[in-house]
Amino acid sequence: MNILALSGSLRSTSTNTGLLRTAIEEAPKNVNIEIADWSAVPIYNGDVEAEDGVPASVIALADQMRGADGLLLSVPEYNFSIPGGFKNMTDWISRVEDQPFGGKPTAIMGAAASPMGTGRMQYELRKVLGALNADLVLKPEVFVGLALSKFDEHGKFTDDAGRKFIGTLVEALVTKIRA
Ligand SMILES: Cc1cc2nc3c(=O)[nH]c(=O)nc-3n(C[C@H](O)[C@H](O)[C@H](O)COP(=O)(O)O)c2cc1C
Repeated sequence: MNILALSGSLRSTSTNTGLLRTAIEEAPKNVNIEIADWSAVPIYNGDVEAEDGVPASVIALADQMRGADGLLLSVPEYNFSIPGGFKNMTDWISRVEDQPFGGKPTAIMGAAASPMGTGRMQYELRKVLGALNADLVLKPEVFVGLALSKFDEHGKFTDDAGRKFIGTLVEALVTKIRA
């Protein structure tokens, strides 16, 4: 079983990418989780789409997503909402023929610096992915607050309770994929 993971943060020491690495550590043996690189996706521009079509970077990402059995997203909260770059990526993806969120088992989690830990963002992201017909895992909800203090100097997630929740989320995604 192949799961494609997308981090909502592109920075090298991202806590959200750290949560995805934790998911890889917690995944059952026969479940492969790969972290996608979507950093080449440009800003959506309807003129570009009309003149040149969907960019190759978007087509390649959509193909990668379509080829996966499920998607695991870990996204931070920016100004109480979805980070612009990540939302922009979903907007481009939504323009691809046979867009890959449609019917795809998809799980969401997130890490943020505040104690609220992406709660507000996740409900907005669920709404957006609902528009794209993603088959969303509803529970457990994984909100990692105060995230910057929960990684050691090697980038390892040190919150055992949070780690357990991530493992349970991966199991729920695997169950949805099998169903
Ligand atoms: C533009 C911007 C807006 C932010 N807004 C919020 C916010 O609304 N809530 C919050 O908890 N953290 C907010 N933060 C802090 C992020 O939670 C923090 O930078 C976090 O580490 C980002 O995730 P990352 O570690 O995966 O990059 C914001 C950060 C940036 C850069």
